[in-house]
Amino acid sequence: MCGIVGIVGQAPVAPLIVDALKRLEYRGYDSAGVATIAAGKLGRRRAEGKLINLERRLQDEPLDGTIGIGHTRWATHGVPNETNAHPHFSKDVAIVHNGIIENFAELRTGLIADGYEFASQTDTEVVAHLVSRELAKGLGPVEAAHAALRQLEGAFALAIMYRGDEDMIIGARNGPPLAVGHGEGEMYLGSDAIALSPFTNAITYLEDGDWAVVRRGSLEIFDIDGNRVERRRQQSVGTSYLVDKGNYRHFMEKEIHEQPEVVSQTLAHYLDFANGVARRGDTPFDFAKIDRLAVAACGTAYLAGLVGKYWFERYARLPVDIDVASEFRYREMPLTRDSAALFISQSGETADTLASLRYCRQAGAPIGAIVNVRESTIARESDGIFPTLAGPEIGVASTKAFTCQLAVLASLAVRAAAERGHIDAARERVLVRELSEAPKYINQALKLAPQIEKLARELSQVKHVLYLGRDTNYPLALEGALKLKEISYIHAEGYAAGELKHGPIALIDEQMPVIVIAPHDRIFEKTVSNMQEVAARGGKIILITDARGAAQSSVDTLDTIVVPDVPEIISPIVHALPMQMLAYYTAVFMGTDVDQPRNLAKSVTVE
Ligand code: G6P
Repeated sequence: MCGIVGIVGQAPVAPLIVDALKRLEYRGYDSAGVATIAAGKLGRRRAEGKLINLERRLQDEPLDGTIGIGHTRWATHGVPNETNAHPHFSKDVAIVHNGIIENFAELRTGLIADGYEFASQTDTEVVAHLVSRELAKGLGPVEAAHAALRQLEGAFALAIMYRGDEDMIIGARNGPPLAVGHGEGEMYLGSDAIALSPFTNAITYLEDGDWAVVRRGSLEIFDIDGNRVERRRQQSVGTSYLVDKGNYRHFMEKEIHEQPEVVSQTLAHYLDFANGVARRGDTPFDFAKIDRLAVAACGTAYLAGLVGKYWFERYARLPVDIDVASEFRYREMPLTRDSAALFISQSGETADTLASLRYCRQAGAPIGAIVNVRESTIARESDGIFPTLAGPEIGVASTKAFTCQLAVLASLAVRAAAERGHIDAARERVLVRELSEAPKYINQALKLAPQIEKLARELSQVKHVLYLGRDTNYPLALEGALKLKEISYIHAEGYAAGELKHGPIALIDEQMPVIVIAPHDRIFEKTVSNMQEVAARGGKIILITDARGAAQSSVDTLDTIVVPDVPEIISPIVHALPMQMLAYYTAVFMGTDVDQPRNLAKSVTVE
């Protein structure tokens, strides 16, 4: 979740490191720091809070040096303050780290017994002292790093440099990603290729267990036993997207408005509109032969998967087991010979999703992944990928990646339905045409912004909000609640409307807004009954529905948001928009940090 950078360069590196850290700020933004070596001395600047604070620090007190490492932090061990900010030093060793050293308490005890003093509460400082202790035993820098790495348990990406060697950074990877960038007489290390995109597109990805000696003119990669290994150098397609909000106030607002375009691009990748068929693509399993699909993901990606479950089961009669990945990875789900596995992840790096994938790999199931970052670890470890064509998503709260994930899942469900013989060619043509209309309706839904903004002003006054929906609107209720709490910090819960009576109804009073997502579908009347139950207890209903639903709801509402009338299969894609806009405008009224909400990170590479 932290972002790390290292540069062995020609010019002063501190400004370049900050530039790369800006591209990694999505990984965490509690504090940041840079260290360089200049004239034989280690120098360091660190600052609590956003990267801008570090930039100010560096303006006041610049750092020289053509070799350096940098870090943007998402705190695991130790509060986010300057002392706990990376880089951490131990005598001649400087280190930045992403991940968790699980045996740090035990290592720390041993180091303290050996006389090492700890300045911070972090697990990272343990690694710095371990390397130092190996140096003190007489090992050279490379051997000392290797010896220290062998003592670590847990997940880590590390960059280590030494006072006394201004031509070497050691990188190591066990879990979180680490990429080496090749430049002209310069070399780079970074948590992802995007961080390095202003410098180079020539990238070598380290694999788990790899560690690398990076010098201006060479790269050597070893496995944990110290054997040389070869890793392919490839051209990254990473864009140097930074950092343009256009005319929007926030990336999230921009990304919400990009949805007609990116959903359209994504659908075009999976659907052959001219012939009315869903393309097979490089699906790594045969939908006709599998009898079960296991799906795992986290956060918003999980909720996309939950919508997908309804689609696969309804259209393709394919049973789906879905779990949040942090449960999936440990619950020892039996996978039959005819099971396939599908993982969904915007970043393609989420630790729990990756661990679930590896569980399925061991169980021998064919693996597909819906990812937004095609070079990510999850993409690389899958048998086939289903890209979302959302482009880089910067806002921590996912919006356009979610609707693109839905677009992929719906297209795959149609494909699966056709392959499994549950729809004929005529029905497939209809579904493909209906899906092709999603971008048009998303555009129309965006026009609801002024009404939703007005409503958000009221919502920003409340402490709790309940979201209700049935069928695919149930995952949308969960997503609406998740979006609201992520960025406005208002407590919100999503419930299946039918569960209202089994608990949440006790919460309803005149202060409690209840957002009901209920387009006029085959179970509309059931949801109307639930709304009556809310109204009878004084709850304030905000109804999100279509024109027919609005005409027939017969319940007094605080507000009714009328979304375009759309075919059933694209309803979740279109109804996602009011959920996103409601959360967005509420957060704007609350004055929160919309794009980088407190405590969250966009890419969660620790358990
Ligand atoms: C974090 C982000 C969410 C995202 C989730 C899963 O919690 O803040 O927006 O949905 O991780 O991330 P992934 O990259 O796997 O989709």
